[in-house]
Amino acid sequence: MRRIRLSAVLGVMVALLAGAVPGEAQKFKGLALTPPMGWNSWNKFGCNVDERMIRETADAMVSSGMKDAGYRYVVIDDCWHGERDSLGFIHPNSLRFPSGMKALADYIHAKGLKFGIYSCAGDSTCAGHPGSRGHEYQDALIYASWGVDYLKYDWCHTNGLSAVGAYTTMRNALRAAGRPVVFSLCEWGDNAPWLWGKDIGHLWRTTGDISPQFDGEVNHGTWSSWGVMKIVEMRAGIRSYAGPDHWNDPDMMEVGNGMSVAEDRAHFSLWCMMAAPLIAGNDLRSMGKETAGILTNREVIAVDQDSLGIQGYRFDTRDSLETWVRALAHGDWALCFLNRSGLGKAVNHDWSTMVVVDTLSKRTLDTAGKRYLIRDLWAQKDRGTTRRSFAAEIPSHDVVMLRLTEQ
Ligand code: GLA
Repeated sequence: MRRIRLSAVLGVMVALLAGAVPGEAQKFKGLALTPPMGWNSWNKFGCNVDERMIRETADAMVSSGMKDAGYRYVVIDDCWHGERDSLGFIHPNSLRFPSGMKALADYIHAKGLKFGIYSCAGDSTCAGHPGSRGHEYQDALIYASWGVDYLKYDWCHTNGLSAVGAYTTMRNALRAAGRPVVFSLCEWGDNAPWLWGKDIGHLWRTTGDISPQFDGEVNHGTWSSWGVMKIVEMRAGIRSYAGPDHWNDPDMMEVGNGMSVAEDRAHFSLWCMMAAPLIAGNDLRSMGKETAGILTNREVIAVDQDSLGIQGYRFDTRDSLETWVRALAHGDWALCFLNRSGLGKAVNHDWSTMVVVDTLSKRTLDTAGKRYLIRDLWAQKDRGTTRRSFAAEIPSHDVVMLRLTEQ
């Protein structure tokens, strides 16, 4: 009797030491210590998804160099669904996915990539397919049996549901199913998920949907989608909520989906300055060199994936020229000059006038007291030190992105 009690007590102690409260589900920790990188079908393909396209995309993720640059997740968004069977288990659309999801996951895993899928907290998905409401534990079990590594969980048709409750239920279901899954909350920022999402998921959408334009709003009647700069501006004050394993998600990228090369570069740079998940949303199979060059620039990606996990911010705006800063690990800083105007601009940056005190990282960019080496991340060139002012021409809607390393 005494021995049994002792082992029970020891078990509880081990659980507590491991950070687990007995009986209370947790998210799978440590799956997104840096922002997740991957691809999602929605921005380019909408409902036009099938297993052949997904396989070809996985092939292209490898052959384009994206896998080598760090991209891992191949995520099928809405519209993969067929019907629920008489027991309530969901099946994929058999015309679009005749080989089934397990076979597709196996194919993706065999390439060293990870497999992601989409569902919705409501009765049906945004495109009208079966949602997970009332089927959360069943769905999580099925996803685990298919080999799903990432779940994007949407917020359509959720009348009467509490967001915290619905997302917690799915987190608990995933946990109970036992397979580690990155949990992406797609709740559009309606219920301020940055305030409660940290212990539930690994990333949370901060806004409504992105659209492939630099600025502006596209009105769809009952809802709007947003240009890159609108998305950036809509949630300017929430960077303190992001960090390793819990990221603000300004939406999947539109790089390669119709903006100019300069705008794509600016979009990608801002996502990296903001420590955003880097989920490509273009057709990887047919992208040109310029698009691939943006998506795979390792020095820019290294800013996004910085281990400190401090989201950067807009430090200054002057005459349509924005200066963004981000504190990086080991005392480095990323800087991004963004030209928002319709005309090219000359920058002549005098470092001595710039003192950055980042209250979040508690670090100061001290160009008066210290000297930093300047690396131009898009040109991939060294540009001297902060002892001299920095001069550059920045075309309209383009950026110059720098990394400063203390000398
Ligand atoms: C919502 C999401 C999008 C996409 C669609 C799918 O609009 O925000 O990212 O998943 O649903 O229907």
